[in-house]
Amino acid sequence: MPDAPRRYLFVMGSARSGGSSETLARAAAASLPPGTAQDWKPLHESPLPAFHDAVPAGGSLDRTPEGHERVLLDATLRATDLVVVSPLYWYSVSASVKLYLDYWGLWMQAPAIGFRPRMRGKVMWAITAFGGRDESSAGPLLETLRRSAEYLDMRWGGAVVAPGGTGTGSGFPEAQARARHLFGPGPADRPRHRSEPVESAADGGSRP
Ligand SMILES: Cc1cc2nc3c(=O)[nH]c(=O)nc-3n(C[C@H](O)[C@H](O)[C@H](O)COP(=O)(O)O)c2cc1C
Repeated sequence: MPDAPRRYLFVMGSARSGGSSETLARAAAASLPPGTAQDWKPLHESPLPAFHDAVPAGGSLDRTPEGHERVLLDATLRATDLVVVSPLYWYSVSASVKLYLDYWGLWMQAPAIGFRPRMRGKVMWAITAFGGRDESSAGPLLETLRRSAEYLDMRWGGAVVAPGGTGTGSGFPEAQARARHLFGPGPADRPRHRSEPVESAADGGSRP
């Protein structure tokens, strides 16, 4: 049976529109085959409410998401590829991306959503811009995303880490060129190989 058509969800975590991380994401998206489905969700335009851990101790959650939460959940479940576009804020993802990931924790605990099994096999990508000089300061951001993907048995597609700031630095055009190749053939397109058994936590079960 042929693979389902790819559908890319760009989760935009900058606190501003038109910043460096968005510019990189647009460059990456421009390289997708014509007609590839794309969904763009700037988190600052449809903010999630403050996180409240509503899961009863040891229990599962009866939750029917509404409003922005519903929109984001549906977009997440529809996507085959999740592109997290986050500036580097304090060595990690922006607050809005972190909040979005916190909601994953709620969705995982609601058996009716079936979040964990429906996330399995999707591909996560990361695009980040940083303002300093040291690219390695994006390490914690990449680690957060890689581990989150791994926890949900998603595949890691790859990342673009770029000097952003005002977008006028000399490294930025080179980073845009790298972004244009992000979705090319790479680990996410290669057949899956696992040496470890897949974690089999039931939906609504464990947390990271
Ligand atoms: C709250 C905040 C925290 C930041 N923390 C860092 C940081 O830890 N390291 C860094 O290199 N740049 C940091 N920056 C700079 C941004 O990463 C940089 O301006 C980036 O280009 C912002 O992304 P954007 O252009 O997509 O909005 C920070 C900026 C803000 C607003």
